[in-house]
Amino acid sequence: MHLPRWESVLEDQAQAPTILIVDDIDLNRRLLRAMLKTAPYRILDAKRPSSALAILEREKVDLVVVDLVMPEMSGPDFCRVLKSDRKTQLIPILMTTSVQGAENEVAGIESGADEFLIKPLQPTVVRTRIRAMLRNKALIDSLEEAETILFALAQAVEHRDKYTGLHCERLATYSIALGQALGLPRQDQLALYRGGYLHDIGKISIPDAILFKRGLLTDEEWQTMRLHTTRGEDICRPMKSLAPVLPIIRSHHERWDGSGYPDGLRGEEIPLLARILQVADIYDALTTARPYKPAFSHAHAMEVMVEEARRGWRDPELVPLFAEVAHGPIDTSGSPLLGNLPMRQSLENMRRELSK
Ligand SMILES: [Fe+2]
Repeated sequence: MHLPRWESVLEDQAQAPTILIVDDIDLNRRLLRAMLKTAPYRILDAKRPSSALAILEREKVDLVVVDLVMPEMSGPDFCRVLKSDRKTQLIPILMTTSVQGAENEVAGIESGADEFLIKPLQPTVVRTRIRAMLRNKALIDSLEEAETILFALAQAVEHRDKYTGLHCERLATYSIALGQALGLPRQDQLALYRGGYLHDIGKISIPDAILFKRGLLTDEEWQTMRLHTTRGEDICRPMKSLAPVLPIIRSHHERWDGSGYPDGLRGEEIPLLARILQVADIYDALTTARPYKPAFSHAHAMEVMVEEARRGWRDPELVPLFAEVAHGPIDTSGSPLLGNLPMRQSLENMRRELSK
């Protein structure tokens, strides 16, 4: 007996791309549905932009077809709404219109539509465009997934070292607080957030015997250990979206006086975001217990950091600013309400930004 290949059926079902058609004219929506029947798409439609937005809230949509002229909200305005929301900005948009004129096409493309077609629509042209747009979307989806995997890997690296539990989260919080105090743009704050998680990802390539060695490392072992900066950069470099994080990963062990690694950069040659993350990293190392030392109090940690700045290791302006911003270490051991509330809030805000 020939058994049906149900696994592949399920797979196809799960992978059928979802297309949302937004057009106030019933006939247009029916026509488009008919044109797209030749492929196994899952098709949703909406008469109005407001109901389309409601669908986008609850469904995973892979492509939107929208008409230029609609009641409530024009096609270009609808595009702008989608492109300014993190949750929907990567969804490709095909705009259609029966209104002739290059200025309409320009308005459509400027508002963020990826493709523009003038009615009457040719079924083969519509199908080809949509196929190409969905291929692109699948590529973008896979890149995002790759980024998610990297974050998970980075956390796995941190969790192997049981003394640094929740280190990434605190680091992201401290550095964003410092970034906000400096008035850095949101883009840089995002890079700091990601840097908090990814800066030590290169440690994945460092042998355990060196990474977890009790006692002093030999010169040779130090050389290997230092490679975690450049190896981390190599791991993240292929991902375009991580470009702003690369300087943090590479330069988070540089020192203000040029005695750091891997490039021996000095002063402001060291990327600002890397200097910020470093201050946060040191503060966290000082205020948490390690096998070789107890957790220092805020005051004690700041004393050590001011001394290090005086010695020429740290940015002499960032350290005092950090002292003003951080009023104490975050307590991540118990309730999330314990610890430094303003900092927790800034991290929460950042998370919300990221999930938009
Ligand atoms: Fe590091």
